[in-house]
Amino acid sequence: MHSKIVGTGSCLPERRVDNHELERMVDTSDEWIRARTGIVERRIVAEGEFTSDLAEAAAREAIDNAGINAADIDLIVVATTTPDLVFPSTATLVQHRLGIRGCPAFDVQAVCAGFIYALDVVDKYIRTGASKCALVIGAETFSRIVDWTDRTTCVLFGDGAGAMVIRADDEPGILSTHVHADGAYKELLWVPVGVSTGNAAVEAGKAFTHMKGNEVFRWAVTAMSDIAVEALRHNGLSVDDLDWLVPHQANVRIIQAIGKRLRLPPDKVVVTVAEHGNTSAASVPLAFDVAVRDGRFRRGDLILLEGFGGGFTWGSVLLRY
Ligand code: UT7
Repeated sequence: MHSKIVGTGSCLPERRVDNHELERMVDTSDEWIRARTGIVERRIVAEGEFTSDLAEAAAREAIDNAGINAADIDLIVVATTTPDLVFPSTATLVQHRLGIRGCPAFDVQAVCAGFIYALDVVDKYIRTGASKCALVIGAETFSRIVDWTDRTTCVLFGDGAGAMVIRADDEPGILSTHVHADGAYKELLWVPVGVSTGNAAVEAGKAFTHMKGNEVFRWAVTAMSDIAVEALRHNGLSVDDLDWLVPHQANVRIIQAIGKRLRLPPDKVVVTVAEHGNTSAASVPLAFDVAVRDGRFRRGDLILLEGFGGGFTWGSVLLRY
């Protein structure tokens, strides 16, 4: 059995925050942000709007596009670093709102590589026959763990969600998944407080993202180039066989550097970072849905998805659409 993507969906919050709005909040400029990151605007949730709201809307769209009923879903996995609650999981919140009962539903936490990890898990459920129709979502309200007075991070992130319905099929589908992690790099990209550390900063609403940007940058380029080679080699394929690359959308310069290393023409790379910013676990499924909707992806295309995030965590999914 293989995992086949039969429907996709996405959701972005209504509010657009462009670089000029950030110029009024911190010592930055539209010029710097565009030149160093490629980001032009990002979407930010409204007060009272949560990760589960974005996840539910993206899921409903994916279910519609797949032409299935919510009742057909037998597995729900949500990749998120910004769940509504400590527990229950965002996946169970979405399950309830979709009117589904009884099927397994859980969250996966691998930050910006989260959606790749979620697809890796879902693919294994499908291959073993444990799931026939899975809903997989990447959803984040990263704006809630960003210090809006810190110019080195607040210009980078945005909120959003992307979803896929994945069905068991005789033909691929997902050809391979490869996921990796190395906890030695924790302090290069992290929120250094949490529930168990009992830090007062959490209660004070100061659980913020800290990043050593240029070190993460170098790592991201190397890891996302290497995993492309790993995935293609594993399948006896070459870069020339690839129709599309959908990398994690953190910085257009990272994406360009990966393309250059792989010798992949820029028109084969899906780039949405200008409009979305870095939406962490939502970035890959959001970009995927954009390219489905604008007609770039055709059935049979060979597509490589890549993620890289805090931990570090990183991974790839190679698939025939
Ligand atoms: O999603 C997980 C993966 N995340 C990433 O992959 C992010 C990786 N890192 C990056 O994308 C880039 O490193 C950044 C966009 C974060 C930073 O770009 P950079 O070209 O690496 O700049 P830098 O950190 O070396 O900073 C250069 C200068 C510094 O000033 P000095 O020390 O040279 O005087 C910064 O203080 O730019 C300054 N700077 C800013 N200036 C205006 C940093 N942020 C800003 C800002 N506006 N927003």
